[in-house]
Amino acid sequence: MTCRGRLGGPRDCRGPQKGGTTDLVDNTQLLKELEPVVAQNLDRHFAAAKEWMPHEYVPWSDGRNFALLDGEPWTVEQSTLSAVARTALEVNLLTEDNLPSYHREVDRAFGRESAWGVWVNRWTAEEGRHAFCIRDYLLVTRGVDPEELERARMETMQTGFDSGDKPLLHVCAYVSFQELATRVSHRNTGKVTEDPVAERLLTRVAKDENLHMIFYRNLVQAALELQPNETMRAITDEVVGFEMPGAIIPGFTRKSVQIAKAGIYDLRIHHDDVVMPLLRQWRIFELEGLDAEGEKARQELATALEALDATASRFVEQRAEAEAKRAARAASRA
Ligand SMILES: [Fe+2]
Ligand SMILES: [Fe+2]
Repeated sequence: MTCRGRLGGPRDCRGPQKGGTTDLVDNTQLLKELEPVVAQNLDRHFAAAKEWMPHEYVPWSDGRNFALLDGEPWTVEQSTLSAVARTALEVNLLTEDNLPSYHREVDRAFGRESAWGVWVNRWTAEEGRHAFCIRDYLLVTRGVDPEELERARMETMQTGFDSGDKPLLHVCAYVSFQELATRVSHRNTGKVTEDPVAERLLTRVAKDENLHMIFYRNLVQAALELQPNETMRAITDEVVGFEMPGAIIPGFTRKSVQIAKAGIYDLRIHHDDVVMPLLRQWRIFELEGLDAEGEKARQELATALEALDATASRFVEQRAEAEAKRAARAASRA
């Protein structure tokens, strides 16, 4: 399995592919065994999730017509956002836009029966409002180029998201990391907008992502008790092969570099604020009783984490050096 760039790059690291009757039987059995955990976490989720109204977060009075309705076409001067804030908001929005693909994936993995089906629909309904309100905000504030955004949306959704039919445990591990990564990304994007309205909106969206992360994190916790070796393998594969769901967005590699340089989402954040907190919560390195396969997976994970940590440190050093050089050039010009 090759993976050129964990947070961007081509989609060539989808984890192991499984199929066939045995896996289907295993999957059905595991879905059944985890169902009480899903039901319990649904109750917890419904109690924790506060109702909120996306329309309340949008500054509607800032809006005006575009050219077709005799208004003004968009120009970049109308946006109060910095270039990197525009990029980050576009990437976040296009990622959220691709919900039909994600729904297809979780529906395939979790099914429509029992508490699993209730969760799939509830999660989809909550995710749906994220794109609506971010788009509304960007259109009324003229934050980004609406034509470029629409073309990118069409392209992204036509490409679709495809996990490569990951097995159930891999899906649970992936979405745990992905929900936390999305939470961090929305939160940090909010900060760079330097607009309190955008920050409040993205903080609200990030709260949803946090609850989603807790739901999936608890499922993985339960899976570690039921099938520790297989779950360890799934976690390792998903850490090693992780890529953001937005990796199919046009120009994602270039945009993710911009986002990383601005410290919105980079390898340091990915290691420190996404991967490690979940591994600590699951007590991955304290787990006892793994068989040879489970230990092998854990060892692979430890090696991958070391490499990720080293790459993250190198990236941060290089970014600091580049910033220092830029500052020195600016000072000498002044
Ligand atoms: Fe979302
Ligand atoms: Fe989410």
